[in-house]
Amino acid sequence: PKRIFSGMQPTGQLHLGNYLGALKNWVALQDEGSFECFYCVVDMHAITMPHDPKALPGAVRAAAAAYIAAGVDPAKSALFAQSAVPEHAELAWIFNCVARMGWAERMTQFKDKAGKDKERASVGLFTYPVLMAADILVYKATHVPVGDDQKQHLELCRDVAARFNRDYGDGEMIFPITEPVIQGPGARIMSLRDGLSKMSKSDVSDNSRINLHDDADTIAKKIRKAKTDPEPLPDTMEALNARPEATNLVGIYAALTGRTKADVLAEFAGQGFGVFKPALADVAVEYLAPISDEFRRLVADQAEIDRILTDGAERARTVAAPVLKQAKQVIGYWS
Ligand code: TYM
Repeated sequence: PKRIFSGMQPTGQLHLGNYLGALKNWVALQDEGSFECFYCVVDMHAITMPHDPKALPGAVRAAAAAYIAAGVDPAKSALFAQSAVPEHAELAWIFNCVARMGWAERMTQFKDKAGKDKERASVGLFTYPVLMAADILVYKATHVPVGDDQKQHLELCRDVAARFNRDYGDGEMIFPITEPVIQGPGARIMSLRDGLSKMSKSDVSDNSRINLHDDADTIAKKIRKAKTDPEPLPDTMEALNARPEATNLVGIYAALTGRTKADVLAEFAGQGFGVFKPALADVAVEYLAPISDEFRRLVADQAEIDRILTDGAERARTVAAPVLKQAKQVIGYWS
């Protein structure tokens, strides 16, 4: 069967990068109908960095509400919290013994997140991508829709699957070699304050990102204030690509409307940002306002979210349990 797995961390609030890089594709793949979809809130990954234990369950509910507001349908897709499916953690231990130190040491995201003082980073932060491999492979997922920044982690997942199959599969392909689905102009959305750094929840400036819960005025204001250059939009992609901030805004417009950047450029070439920014703000508000309205409605209904998460975890476990059992058998566990 064709299976999708993907997840997001419940830290802070989801932003436009999360939506255009991942969520929007999750919903499209779910609605396409030929995949069995598992969409997870990865609270086990959230504890790899300093966090507030009291705030975590609420953040998980908020992330789940955002998934649903964006179009994840709990009747079609299993929506659950990672910590509610212990099979992830059990398979992660096995994979910790399959993955090599050298693979984990190459991960650029660990280097970025650990910062200068690697000695003080948690061991969990180091093996973070191994847990990701377990998240995916405990469902034998064949496809994983993510933003561009997860590409290297998915390569490690493929390496883990290939190595496990080779060392323990006895000629059988126990785990699939999962395909990343990284597509379209939304795969890498940059900060509104700096076209060379990623839009991120950890940026200190709230003006650097559009949050899924921002209201229409805030969205319009952030776009108006977005960093740009004084030139009008060019008429070739080559000229656009040399201008990071302009590229990013055109990319956001394209991703929101489901068009290509070249197509958007053809419409706006020769126009200044005095014209383009208000047009972008209109599009952003039109697409995001219904999501943020629905988000606010859902997040107030904790009982409903908890019911959905409990049901999703049950469905996830019925798939994950037999896969874990098979992995335990071939690795030689006693029980
Ligand atoms: P996280 O929580 O950092 O991000 C969630 C998703 O949003 C995408 N994304 C972006 N896409 C485009 N532009 C941006 N500026 C941007 N910022 C974030 C990410 O690529 C991601 O798809 N390690 C993962 C969570 C995870 C996971 C998994 C994903 C855990 N296990 C298994 C896939 C499969 C993470 O921290 O994503």
